[in-house]
Amino acid sequence: MSQQFLKPSSLLSKVSPFRVMTVMKRADELEQQGRKIVHMEVGEPDFSTAQPIIDAGKAALDKGLTQYTSAPGITALRDCLSKQYKEKYGVDVDRERILITPGASGGLTLLANLLVNPGDGILIGDPAYPCVRNFIQLMAAEPQLVPVGLEENFQPNLELLKQHRNSASKGIWLASPNNPTGTILERSELESICNWAKSNGLHVLVDEIYHGLHYVDDLPCALEIDQTCFIVNSFSKYYGMTGWRLGWIVVPEQFIEQANILAQNLYISASSIAQYAALAAFTEEASKIFEERRDSFRQRRDYLMEALSELGFGLSRNIEGAFYIYADISNFSDDSEEFCHDMLENHGLAITPGTDFGDFEAKKHVRIAFTTDMENLHLAVSRLRSALGKS
Ligand SMILES: Cc1ncc(COP(=O)(O)O)c(C=O)c1O
Repeated sequence: MSQQFLKPSSLLSKVSPFRVMTVMKRADELEQQGRKIVHMEVGEPDFSTAQPIIDAGKAALDKGLTQYTSAPGITALRDCLSKQYKEKYGVDVDRERILITPGASGGLTLLANLLVNPGDGILIGDPAYPCVRNFIQLMAAEPQLVPVGLEENFQPNLELLKQHRNSASKGIWLASPNNPTGTILERSELESICNWAKSNGLHVLVDEIYHGLHYVDDLPCALEIDQTCFIVNSFSKYYGMTGWRLGWIVVPEQFIEQANILAQNLYISASSIAQYAALAAFTEEASKIFEERRDSFRQRRDYLMEALSELGFGLSRNIEGAFYIYADISNFSDDSEEFCHDMLENHGLAITPGTDFGDFEAKKHVRIAFTTDMENLHLAVSRLRSALGKS
C-alpha cells in the first residue's frame, strides 16, 4: 500500500499542540541571533536539581543500579512517600497504593487508561493544564470544560460542577495549586466536591504536582478528605527534577492490581536511576534547599504581583501556589496570542497565551511564569513598562 494512505489515529485530530513549545522554539531562535530573551514561558524551576539528589543519582550509576525496577517502583521510595503522607497530612497511605511513574505525565496517562471509557465525560476546569484535556480525548472520551474566571478563583466549585454534569459524566479532574493560575482549592470546597462526587458515583482525581510550592498555610491533600480520591504528584516541581522524569500516583486499594498491570504494560517501570536519586529528596539537607527555593519563589511572586498590578494587568489576589500568574491583559489587548507574539518579537519577553490552557476568556489572559531570577524579573518588568508605553 502506498504510504500516502497511512494516517495517524483519528483520535489525534482533537489533540492540540502545546503553544508554549512554539514560544520556546522561537525564543531559542532569537537567542541564536544574539537577542537577550527573558524566559517566563517555561513551567519548570530555573534551579537545577539539588546536589544531594545529583550525588545519589551518581552513586546509583556507580553501583550499576541501571536495571528495570518493579513496575510500581522501588520499595524504599514508596515507603518515603507513605511516611511523608503521614507526617505532612496525617493520612495513612499504604505503600501498595503508591505507584512511581515517569513524571506526573506518566501518572496521568495511567489514570486515564484506568478510569476513562470511550464516551465518558470528565469534568475539568477551563483554564487547566492543557495535556489533561488531551489525555481524555485520547481515551475517546469528552473533556467537559467548566469555565472558571477570577470570580471563581479559577477553580471549579460545586455549583458549576452541578451545572455542567450530564449523564455522560464519570469523573472530576482537579488541580490544586492550578496551572496556569496558581490558585488553590480551599478545604471546604474540596470537601463539598468530594462528598457530592461520592454520592453521585463520580471519581475524583486531584493533581497535586505543585504541593510544596505553596505560599499558604492550609493546603489540603485530597486524601485527607477522601481516601478514594486518585492523586497525581511528581518530583518535577518542588523537588526540581523535571528532566529525571519521575512522579507518582496514589490509587484506592481496589484499583491497585489494575494500576500495576497498566504500569507493566505502559512503561515497565520508571527510571531506576531517577528513583534511587529521589531517595535523597527526603533528607534534611535536601529539604532545606527546597524550602529556600520556595522562599525565592514567594519573593518573586510578591514582587511580580505588585509590579504587574501597577502596570495595569488584572490579577487574582489569591496566587497561593505554583509559579504562575494568569494575568488579564484587557487593558492592552483583546488577543493574547498577538500580545505574546509582540512581547517576544519586539520586546524580548517570552510568555504564554491563555489559549494554551482552554477556551474561556483565553484571549484576554497570558500566563507569566516566575521561573527566572529577580534580575531577570526586573528586566521583564522594565521591558513590559516600555512595551506598554508606561515609561
Ligand atoms: C498541573 C500539571 N500536571 C502535570 C504536569 C506534568 O509534569 P511532569 O513533569 O511530572 O510530567 C505539569 C507540568 O507542567 C503540570 O503543570
